[in-house]
Amino acid sequence: MNTVPPTIAPGWTRPHLLGLEELSAAEIGHILDTALEFKRLHTIGETKLATLKGVTVGNLFFEPSTRTKTSFSLAAKRLSADTVDFSSAGSSLSKGETFIDTARNIEAMGVPVMVVRHSTSGAPYLLTKHVNASIINAGDGTHEHPTQGLLDILTIKEHRGTIAGLTVVLVGDILHSRVARSNIWGLTKLGARVIVCGPATLIPPYIERLGVEVRYRLDDALEEADCINLLRIQAERQRSAFFPSIYEYAHFYAMNGSRVKRAKDDVLILAPGPINRGVELTPDVADGSRSVILDQVTNGLFIRMACLHLCYHARNQAPMVRPGISPIVTGASLR
Ligand code: CP
Repeated sequence: MNTVPPTIAPGWTRPHLLGLEELSAAEIGHILDTALEFKRLHTIGETKLATLKGVTVGNLFFEPSTRTKTSFSLAAKRLSADTVDFSSAGSSLSKGETFIDTARNIEAMGVPVMVVRHSTSGAPYLLTKHVNASIINAGDGTHEHPTQGLLDILTIKEHRGTIAGLTVVLVGDILHSRVARSNIWGLTKLGARVIVCGPATLIPPYIERLGVEVRYRLDDALEEADCINLLRIQAERQRSAFFPSIYEYAHFYAMNGSRVKRAKDDVLILAPGPINRGVELTPDVADGSRSVILDQVTNGLFIRMACLHLCYHARNQAPMVRPGISPIVTGASLR
């Protein structure tokens, strides 16, 4: 078993990963290169590394997850960390314990790295003010899902060799999508042209200020796209009807066989998952030759290994001290 692989470049200084907005292109490149190195080591049989031996990683999921939670848990184990899983269902949140007290209690058990998913935007950032642990954002509200953005970018880079100069179309519920925001920050910093596409009701006003173009019909963006990322309709975050019916949405925005034929021959089809077959894309496209959806899932493991490794070791190089006594936060949304 290896300890820290000598090929992992030093120089990462951030103890937390909260979003791609605050990262430079060089920092994003550092995470991608680290993930690729972990992937290379895996392919030559180094499936268990010791870079987090003796460390416990807490998976604090206040919202459901299949891919992200499993992937972070497996990534931690591949680095020889122990893991502890927290889910809000069945926890003492139902007895009135706050989000912050929950995290502080888990930290008190000796957990220096916390992976946090929460329905409230900014919840992982808030935790950085109340615990000394490294905080890694596993998706917060409609804000960001940085490791999803990174794994999407890594998958595109592996297939196309570069990000700069590519046209990437993000389709669907841009208004509620944290995946869209992380993709926009990451892709534009690396020099891609990003087009967001969806019903006008699901495109935030002034989104062009983030450096993207807007199309309201998928058919108007198809032929320009090198990559099409089909975002899930976030029904759980929609407080009103944003389109007349799911059938009408699928008619205008689902990626289907006929649309694939009109796109570039080598177009890449991505989806962050979970996918709703027949809504964002049809089964023949999801399972077809242009789909890289399962490659995204595979790359997610290496991206998460990289983020755990880099953030934990940065935290240890510059231990943080949290400010004074934490205020009591009782907001129901953070329970
Ligand atoms: N893409 C993604 O975040 O999936 P999960 O909700 O299953 O983690």
